[in-house]
Amino acid sequence: MLRPDEVDQTDSDAHLKVAGLADDAIIKVSDFSAAYGDTIVLHDITFQVNRSEILVIAGDSGSGKTTLLHHMIGLAIPAKGRILIDGDDLSTTPPGTVRDKIMRKFGVSFQSGALFGSMNVLENVSLQLKQFAHLNGTMADMIALTKLQMVGLADSAQRMPAELSGGMQKRVGIARAMALDPMIIFMDEPSAGLDPITSAEMDQLILTLNKLLKTTFVIVSHELTSIFKIAHRVLLLSTEKQTLIAEGEPNELRSHSNDAWVRAFFSGDIPSSKAVSPKGTSSTIGGHDLMPANGNTHH
Ligand SMILES: Nc1ncnc2c1ncn2[C@@H]1O[C@H](COP(=O)(O)OP(=O)(O)OP(=O)(O)O)[C@@H](O)[C@H]1O
Ligand SMILES: [Mg+2]
Repeated sequence: MLRPDEVDQTDSDAHLKVAGLADDAIIKVSDFSAAYGDTIVLHDITFQVNRSEILVIAGDSGSGKTTLLHHMIGLAIPAKGRILIDGDDLSTTPPGTVRDKIMRKFGVSFQSGALFGSMNVLENVSLQLKQFAHLNGTMADMIALTKLQMVGLADSAQRMPAELSGGMQKRVGIARAMALDPMIIFMDEPSAGLDPITSAEMDQLILTLNKLLKTTFVIVSHELTSIFKIAHRVLLLSTEKQTLIAEGEPNELRSHSNDAWVRAFFSGDIPSSKAVSPKGTSSTIGGHDLMPANGNTHH
């Protein structure tokens, strides 16, 4: 059942569409605050992600990048405000078929790949097709193979995750995130821990998928090279302010932001990630370690 404000929104969107003026938001985050227990770590954040956009979430260590991503994919409930994915609010949708339908609109590629270590590459990618799309084995494997082809790993379909390099594991993670042809792919630090060449290949893959399939990407990254190469827009979070402090094209923010800290961040003058962060490094999501190829993102 829609609440009155949602009905208004739908009406006005439809109205705007007729006029050719609709905003093209696929994700809307409004007045969002995040807390762990009683401690608020992100305050009053409002932004949107446009369809077919590559949006990067950047910020110094501990600024809340992982926390924000975590809430966007429905792993935590906002302390305040709303997050709408294609018009739906995961935080108010109980487990069931409606929630599954929303979840199928996006894929998530975790930092480490987080593959199932006991399954081969093809099985890792086809699993969701069998589970969620209820395809038979042959059909699911065929589709999974096309996804592996897109990330350049069709030849490795029968190999086990442990036999792959870190970069290859991440690419399998992306193939798995793409399995159900989602509208949106969320990625936590796709190039962290990769050598510069593999990291550049990862950027190229994201750009190609975005261009070919019009997939929307929401990517947590602190790698400036990557941000400047792939981001259509970037959000900058700040540990000191505990909120979103800048939003725009990275070049624009580096050259023309009114805030000296923002200019310094995009000029590489501020360490964007410390070796050890107070709670959770970039290899955790909401405090859960993401083990490489262990088959489980929670423990
Ligand atoms: N499970 C948790 N319990 C309590 N506090 C947490 C938890 N996870 C994160 N925090 C706190 O929330 C804030 C934001 O952390 P978060 O991990 O989202 O930052 P980040 O920007 O992803 O940092 P990094 O670049 O180091 O990965 C920090 O102050 C952190 O200490
Ligand atoms: Mg993080």
